[in-house]
Amino acid sequence: MAPRAIITGAAGLIGQYLVNTAPRWAPGWDVQGLSRAHLDLTDRANVERTWQSIKPNAVIHCAALSRTKACEQDPEQARRINVEVTAHLAQLSQNIPFIFLSSGEVFDGKTGWYGETDEPNPINVYGQTKLEAEQAVLQNPEHTVVRIVLTAGTSQNGDRSFVEDMCRAAKAGKDVTLYADEFRCPLPAAVIARAIWELVDCKQPGLYHLGGSERLSRWEIGETLLPWYPELKSRLVKGSVQDHVGSPRPADLSLRCDKIQRLLSFRIPGFREWLAGRPRRGEDVWDYLDGSW
Ligand SMILES: NC(=O)c1ccc[n+]([C@@H]2O[C@H](COP(=O)([O-])OP(=O)(O)OC[C@H]3O[C@@H](n4cnc5c(N)ncnc54)[C@H](OP(=O)(O)O)[C@@H]3O)[C@@H](O)[C@H]2O)c1
Repeated sequence: MAPRAIITGAAGLIGQYLVNTAPRWAPGWDVQGLSRAHLDLTDRANVERTWQSIKPNAVIHCAALSRTKACEQDPEQARRINVEVTAHLAQLSQNIPFIFLSSGEVFDGKTGWYGETDEPNPINVYGQTKLEAEQAVLQNPEHTVVRIVLTAGTSQNGDRSFVEDMCRAAKAGKDVTLYADEFRCPLPAAVIARAIWELVDCKQPGLYHLGGSERLSRWEIGETLLPWYPELKSRLVKGSVQDHVGSPRPADLSLRCDKIQRLLSFRIPGFREWLAGRPRRGEDVWDYLDGSW
């Protein structure tokens, strides 16, 4: 019988890609995607029954309150979902591989190019809850935390990725302000999914960083997308973090990824490089079946 992998947050951006790419990157696994519609992960008794009935051989935990603004607005709910749920699932998975998707937002963003040994210092509720969850997960030396970054892709309802957010705003006639002095190293969800599936097979638990090999400002990211999303053309406005109002945002979350790179069968691409080889229109730019990169 094939080993079973549970993917939480299966209706979310990255969870969807993990489920959809499994036949290509994890053909030996029987994958059970759990969305909120299947199971509310804060319902502890139901979660325990589900673990007992599925008897997973591995868990990839993607479910989260992932929007920074939502976490600032409701820190208790952020703690419940991001910390308590994660700690509970890790405990239920104590004898099997458990991979938790965390975020570069555990850093304050003052220096950039963070490695796994650099000291986290979150500056918002989201980052704080992710860091607390990491600490709970890494108590088990067989478990894994992967800090990921700004993720591009498409989702069922078109309301998950930053690219979808930008396009929705532009189509609604709104300007999209992008900071020229805020830096990220974006990756497509398809690349993240492939790397995570390879990590499952590697059986090398621990803490990993997974970001694109190219550091870009938000403004550069927007400009890069223009040939694929002409609707953004007259809507992008160059801004500065100096003018930011709202929840605190780390300025530079570029990540050093040599540790995970050593385990992967493919080279982690830069965002511009990856997009350069993609079809411009009519096909899904973020197609998960194309592994040519
Ligand atoms: N996307 C990024 O740019 C990015 C960057 C860094 C780190 N990450 C991390 O990577 C992971 C996956 O991100 P993502 O972009 O795929 O997030 P996402 O699209 O927001 O998906 C998260 C999923 O978790 C589900 N969920 C939340 N609370 C739940 C609960 N109580 N019970 C069951 N399901 C629940 C959500 O369901 P609903 O749809 O019903 O709310 C959603 O489908 C998250 O841990 C996130 O923090 C993401």
